[in-house]
Amino acid sequence: MDSIVVTGGGALHGEIPIAGAKNACLTLMPATLLSDEPLTLTNAPRLSDIATMSQLLASLGAEVTQLQDGQVLAMSSHDIDNLTADYEIVRKMRASILVLGPLLARAGRAVVSLPGGCAIGARPVDLHLRGLEALGATLDLRDGYVHADANGGLKGAVFEFPFVSVGATENILMAATLAKGTTVLKNAAREPEIVDLAQCLRKMGAQIEGEGTPTITVQGVETLHGATHPVVPDRIELGTYMLAPAITGGEVECLGGRIELVGAFCEKLHEAGIDVEETKRGLKVARKNGRAKAVDVTTEPFPGFPTDLQAQMMALLCTAEGTSVLEEKIFENRFMHAPELMRMGANIDVHGGHATVTGVERLRGAPVMATDLRASVSLILAGLAAEGETVVSRVYHLDRGYERVEQKLGACGARIERIQAA
Ligand code: EPZ
Repeated sequence: MDSIVVTGGGALHGEIPIAGAKNACLTLMPATLLSDEPLTLTNAPRLSDIATMSQLLASLGAEVTQLQDGQVLAMSSHDIDNLTADYEIVRKMRASILVLGPLLARAGRAVVSLPGGCAIGARPVDLHLRGLEALGATLDLRDGYVHADANGGLKGAVFEFPFVSVGATENILMAATLAKGTTVLKNAAREPEIVDLAQCLRKMGAQIEGEGTPTITVQGVETLHGATHPVVPDRIELGTYMLAPAITGGEVECLGGRIELVGAFCEKLHEAGIDVEETKRGLKVARKNGRAKAVDVTTEPFPGFPTDLQAQMMALLCTAEGTSVLEEKIFENRFMHAPELMRMGANIDVHGGHATVTGVERLRGAPVMATDLRASVSLILAGLAAEGETVVSRVYHLDRGYERVEQKLGACGARIERIQAA
């Protein structure tokens, strides 16, 4: 298993290109199953999760061709010849559940392994299943698989989510595009990745209104045709790299960043004394006057502060002036980066869903272990400004969601290198 070595040092200066969004791409790719015509995605990120989704789609009979060094995904689901998404692939990536809705809508049947939980929580999929049942599917759970049947074709329905779920909104939205009649999704997720999916589905001929609001209305159609669609920029990668100069000092321009993708996050950066400026090419971030200031953060569904930036924000607050309280309201176990940051000298007190962080002048480099995707990059951010060397092990977590992190940070002056496992 590779490690990444970061040697803390001075301020960062330069520019970082922001890639297409992992979490948009992971729902746009299964959308190819809804049509027998080609769907091409541009601005696709080069990540191991994308490779896993490609492998899953191929196992169903779809073709996924990577062009332009992986930035273009040319897909075709003309010849779907297998309706079973196997545990061996699904267990590697929970987003695999997103093939369930499209497969069921297109083929009338689907057998999809239940994804396991993961480090940050149990991650059940009950809302995905209840939503599909609302569209007339019958689901039989046995041997760790969901055996789904559309009973001759899904039918539009009104379905209210008891609480916001990004993945369940995506799964039901995709299924509803081919259901007979009208579907109204209430208390739907509003994330930019949902908006991106709806825009792509509309290019394929779907009739959708209201994406980005809590109520999405879909008029089902007989078939969807092919399309070409650019993946929306990754707001979590964007927020992550905006924190780099906030932690080290200096100034970095995140190319392709758009302020509307990170509104609540930018408000917190501003409160912490960090400057964010919109430029023609993206977002320029600078820390001009000394240490950041402590701020309180509560994670919420979009447009609130994203849970996927909580670990990275904690890294900044570990060296901020004052005491911050972070409340994690989306996942039940998403503070595993805290003990690792404490190995670096951070002063953090975790109680249930709250973490109280009292800033220290400077962290000290140490050997630390990545436990999940966002925790791993939080440790790298902390290492950028720590005294001495930080060795982050198990960086396969990192490679799921960040392409070429060493190159991107190294180009801004960070001392960071990957040590290939023997
Ligand atoms: C998506 O996960 C993202 N993953 C996550 O990003 C992100 O943290 C999350 O949305 C919240 O924004 C992808 O898009 C591939 P949810 P998802 O359904 O869809 C519970 C990353 O780091 N829940 O909105 O799984 C669930 O356990 C990843 O890139 C149910 O109880 O999230 C959680 O507590 C991590 N039953 C809450 O709802 C369900 O059927 C929100 O989950 C579904 C979810």
